[in-house]
Amino acid sequence: MTTLRKRTALLLLGASFGLASLLAHAQQTRADLARNLPSSNLSGHDVQATRTSLLGAPGFAHARVVSNPAAPDATPVGEGMCISCHQLEADHFTHTLHALGLHAANKADASVPVCETCHGAGSAHSQSPQTRGLIIGFTKDSGTPIDVQTRTCLSCHEGGPRDHWTGSVHQRNDLSCSDCHNPMANFSSEGLMAKASINDTCAQCHKDIRVQFNRRSHMPLPEGQMSCADCHNPHGSVTSPLLKTNTVNETCYQCHAEKRGPFLFEHAPVRENCLNCHSPHGSNQNTLLVAPIPFLCQQCHTGQRHPNDLHTSQSLATGSNPDERIMGRGCLTCHANIHGSNAPSGPRFHE
Ligand code: HEC
Ligand code: HEC
Ligand code: HEC
Ligand code: HEC
Ligand code: HEC
Ligand code: HEC
Ligand code: HEC
Ligand code: HEC
Ligand code: HEC
Ligand code: HEC
Repeated sequence: MTTLRKRTALLLLGASFGLASLLAHAQQTRADLARNLPSSNLSGHDVQATRTSLLGAPGFAHARVVSNPAAPDATPVGEGMCISCHQLEADHFTHTLHALGLHAANKADASVPVCETCHGAGSAHSQSPQTRGLIIGFTKDSGTPIDVQTRTCLSCHEGGPRDHWTGSVHQRNDLSCSDCHNPMANFSSEGLMAKASINDTCAQCHKDIRVQFNRRSHMPLPEGQMSCADCHNPHGSVTSPLLKTNTVNETCYQCHAEKRGPFLFEHAPVRENCLNCHSPHGSNQNTLLVAPIPFLCQQCHTGQRHPNDLHTSQSLATGSNPDERIMGRGCLTCHANIHGSNAPSGPRFHE
C-alpha cells in the first residue's frame, strides 16, 4: 500500500512537474492581473505578444457595458443570465481570446462584464427577446445599425491598423466588423475570422479576385504561403486599393527585397511601378507578366534598332530570315538583369 502510494506520488510528482509550474504561473499572472491590469489602449498592440501572456491582455480589465441607443434604460444582467438562454453560443465562445481575457478580468473584478461588453445591457432583451434591437446584434438583420456595431468593437480597437477605417472603401460600403470577424468561436486558427482563413473570408465577396489566383502563374496564395492581408489592409489605408504600404513597390519589397536595389543601372519602369510588367494576383503569362515577351518590351521599346526590327515575321523561327535573338525567351536571353544591374557592363541589363 505504502509503496503503491509512494509510486503514485512519484508518478504524480513527475507528471505534474510541468503542470505545477504552469499553475504557479497562472496564479501569479492572476495575482498580477488583480493588482495591476494594464491600460486599455490597444493601438499598435502586438497581438502575438498578447497571446503568449493571455491573462495579461490589456483592455479587458477596462471593459465596460457598451451603451445601446435602442435600449437606453436597460441594465446589465450578467453572463449567467445570458447563458441560461444561450448555452450553445456561450460554449463556443469559451475558448476565444475575448472569453479568456474577459473571464480573467471578471474574476479579478466582478464589475467587468463579459457578454455585455459587446452586446450591451441585457435586461430589456431578457424580458422581451423577440423585440429587435434591444440587444446589440452584429448581423445585417439584427436591428442594430452598423455604425453602432462597429463603434462597439472600435471602443477597444480604435487606432493602429484601423486608423483609416472611417472613410475606407469597406466602411463606405456598409461592411461591419462581423463581415470578416466572428468573435463567438474560433472558426479560424487566428484572427477570429468569420471563415476558416483570411483568404476564405475575403473570397466571400471577392470571388473574382480569388479566381485570379488559379491562373497559370500566381502568387502562392492557394498554396497557403500568403494571404490577402500580406498586401492589403482591409481596415483601410491611405494607398488605393487598400494597400498596406505607401506605394505598390513598397508592398512588393516586403518580400522581394532584392528588387529594391540599389542598382548602378536602373530600369525606369521597375522603379516606377512593378505593375508596369506584373499583375499582383495571377496571370496566364510566365512569372505573372501582364503580356508575353517580346510584346511586353515592345509596348515601350519601339522605333529603335533591334527591339523593333527583330519582330518582323521574317525573323521568326518559321520565317525566311530567322533571327536567334527572338527565340526562346527572346529579349531576356541577353537582357537578363531586367530589374536593374550592378555589372560594369550593365547599362543594357546584360548578364
Ligand atoms: C429569456 C431568454 C434570453 C435571455 C436571458 C437572453 N436572451 Fe438573447 N435571445 C433570446 C432569444 C429567444 C433570441 C432570438 C430572438 C429572435 O430570434 O428573434 C435571442 C437573440 C439574441 C441575439 C441575436 C439578436 C439579433 O438581433 O441578431 C443576441 C446577440 C443575444 N440574444 C444575446 C444575448 C445576451 C448577450 C444576453 C445576456 C445579456 C441574452 N441574449 C439574454 C433569449 C434570451
Ligand atoms: C467581443 C465581442 C463579443 C462578446 C464578448 C460576446 N459576443 Fe456574442 N456576438 C458577437 C458578434 C460579433 C456576433 C455576430 C456573429 C455573427 O457574425 O454571426 C455575436 C453573436 C451572438 C449571438 C447571435 C447568434 C450567433 O451566434 O450569431 C448570440 C446569441 C450571442 N452572440 C451571445 C453571446 C453571449 C451569451 C456572450 C457571452 C457568453 C457573448 N455573445 C459575448 C460579439 C461578442
Ligand atoms: C473590452 C474591449 C474589447 C471589445 C469591446 C472588443 N475587443 Fe477584440 N480584443 C480585445 C483585446 C484586449 C484583444 C487582445 C489584444 C489585441 O488583439 O489587441 C482583442 C483581440 C481581438 C482580435 C484578435 C484575436 C486574435 O486571436 O488574434 C480580433 C479579431 C478582435 N479582437 C475583434 C473584435 C471585434 C470584431 C469586436 C466587436 C464585435 C471586438 N473585438 C470587441 C478587446 C476588445
Ligand atoms: C474586410 C474584412 C475585415 C473587416 C471589415 C474588419 N477586419 Fe479586422 N481583420 C481582418 C483581417 C484579414 C485581419 C488579419 C490581419 C493580419 O493578420 O494582418 C484582421 C485583424 C484584426 C484584429 C487583430 C489584429 C490587429 O490588427 O490588431 C483586430 C483587433 C481587428 N481586425 C478588429 C477589427 C474591427 C474592430 C473591425 C471593425 C471596425 C474590423 N476588424 C473589420 C479583416 C477585417
Ligand atoms: C462582405 C463583403 C466583403 C468582404 C468579406 C470583403 N470585402 Fe473587400 N470590398 C467589398 C466591397 C463592397 C468593396 C467596394 C466595391 C468594390 O470595389 O468591389 C470592397 C473593396 C475592396 C478593395 C478595394 C477595391 C478598390 O477598387 O478600391 C480591396 C483591396 C478589398 N476590398 C480587399 C478585401 C480583402 C483583402 C478582404 C478580406 C480581408 C475583403 N476585401 C473582404 C466587400 C467585401
Ligand atoms: C502580392 C500582393 C497582393 C496580394 C497577395 C493580394 N493583392 Fe489584391 N491587389 C494588389 C495590388 C498591388 C493591387 C492593385 C492593382 C492595380 O492597381 O491594378 C490589388 C488590387 C486589388 C483589388 C482592386 C482592383 C481589382 O483588381 O479589382 C481588390 C478588390 C483586391 N486586390 C483584392 C484582393 C483579395 C481579395 C486578395 C486575396 C484573395 C488579394 N487582393 C491579394 C496586391 C495584392
Ligand atoms: C508576403 C510576401 C510577398 C509579397 C508581399 C509579394 N510577393 Fe511575390 N512572391 C512571393 C513568394 C513566396 C513567391 C513564390 C516564390 C517561389 O515560388 O520561388 C512569389 C513569386 C513572385 C513572382 C514569380 C511568380 C512565378 O510564377 O514565378 C513574381 C513575378 C512576384 N512574386 C512579384 C511580386 C510583386 C509584383 C509583388 C507586389 C505587388 C509581390 N510579388 C509581393 C511572396 C511575396
Ligand atoms: C520592365 C518589366 C518589369 C518590371 C517593371 C518588373 N519586372 Fe519583375 N520580371 C520581369 C520579367 C520579364 C521577369 C521574368 C524574368 C525571367 O523569366 O527570367 C520578371 C520576374 C520577376 C520575378 C521572378 C524571378 C526573379 O527574378 O526573382 C520576381 C519576384 C519579380 N519579377 C519581381 C518584381 C518586382 C518586385 C518588381 C517591382 C520592383 C518588378 N518585378 C518589376 C519584368 C519586370
Ligand atoms: C513601361 C515601359 C517599359 C517596358 C514595359 C520595358 N521598358 Fe525597358 N526601358 C523603359 C525606359 C523608360 C527605359 C529608359 C530609357 C532611357 O533611359 O532612355 C528603358 C531602358 C531599357 C534598356 C536600356 C536601354 C538604354 O537605352 O539605356 C533596355 C536594354 C531595356 N529597357 C530593355 C527592356 C526589355 C528587354 C523589356 C522587356 C522585358 C523592357 N525593357 C520593358 C521602359 C520600358
Ligand atoms: C542576342 C542578344 C540580344 C537580344 C536577344 C536582344 N537584345 Fe537588345 N541589345 C543587345 C545588345 C548587345 C545591345 C547593345 C547594342 C548597342 O549598344 O548598340 C542591346 C540594346 C538594346 C536596347 C537599347 C537601345 C538600343 O537600341 O541600343 C534596347 C531598348 C533593347 N536592346 C531591347 C531589346 C528588346 C526589347 C529585345 C527583345 C525584343 C532585345 N533587346 C533582344 C542584345 C540583345
